[in-house]
Amino acid sequence: MIRSENLRSGYIQEDVEEYVYQLLPERDKVIREMEEYAEQNRIPIIGPAVARLLSLLVQVSGAKRIFEMGSAIGYSIIWLARAAGPKGKVIYTDGDSQKAARAKDYFRRAGVAKKIDVRVGDAIELLKKTPGKFDVIFNDVDKTQYSAALRAALPKLQRGGLLITDNTLWSGKAARPAAVGDADTLGIQEFNRLVYESKQLYPVLIPLRDGVTVCRKN
Ligand SMILES: C[S@@+](CC[C@H](N)C(=O)[O-])C[C@H]1O[C@@H](n2cnc3c(N)ncnc32)[C@H](O)[C@@H]1O
Repeated sequence: MIRSENLRSGYIQEDVEEYVYQLLPERDKVIREMEEYAEQNRIPIIGPAVARLLSLLVQVSGAKRIFEMGSAIGYSIIWLARAAGPKGKVIYTDGDSQKAARAKDYFRRAGVAKKIDVRVGDAIELLKKTPGKFDVIFNDVDKTQYSAALRAALPKLQRGGLLITDNTLWSGKAARPAAVGDADTLGIQEFNRLVYESKQLYPVLIPLRDGVTVCRKN
């Protein structure tokens, strides 16, 4: 049984989705605890299936310098930090200082605290003012800000670097005309259109969980 709403796509047949999650190996104690806390406190996290995709992309690309926009309690960033290996440097960003405090405790217990630089504030502004370029930028901010996040991320990505963005199917709503006043769906639709129109990016939208778009910078 899929217990958490975080894991339900809303557009994949339930038995098929169930099957995808049943295949996943057990996670360690800290990761399981974070999954349970997120479920109980309705904190949207990417969950283990998308986390494995992120981890795989970091491993195959050899990414070391990683920036995450919208980190919440630090679930996805622990997977990114572990995948980046001992030389990895990962930047956490979130506007909520309470979530950042909880995340720091998880980082310590997961043994990745030294690799993660925690910054509280607006992720888009923090990215713009952080010197240097990144091998991977993971975008998981508010959906109305996706186009602004894209504009900020493009100049901060290395050539060959990856911009990975979560929720790009938005429970399937991205594929249908947005309801009046649904700024989140409009934000995602604009982002999807912009990345596929961009000459600087090579995007692939993967229909895993809520949709994940992986863009390679040319
Ligand atoms: C979907 S959650 C992130 C989940 C996280 N990536 C994970 O999977 O473990 C989105 C988070 O982004 C934060 N957020 C949204 N827009 C932001 C912004 N512009 N700057 C900083 N944080 C932002 C929210 O406070 C929230 O904690």
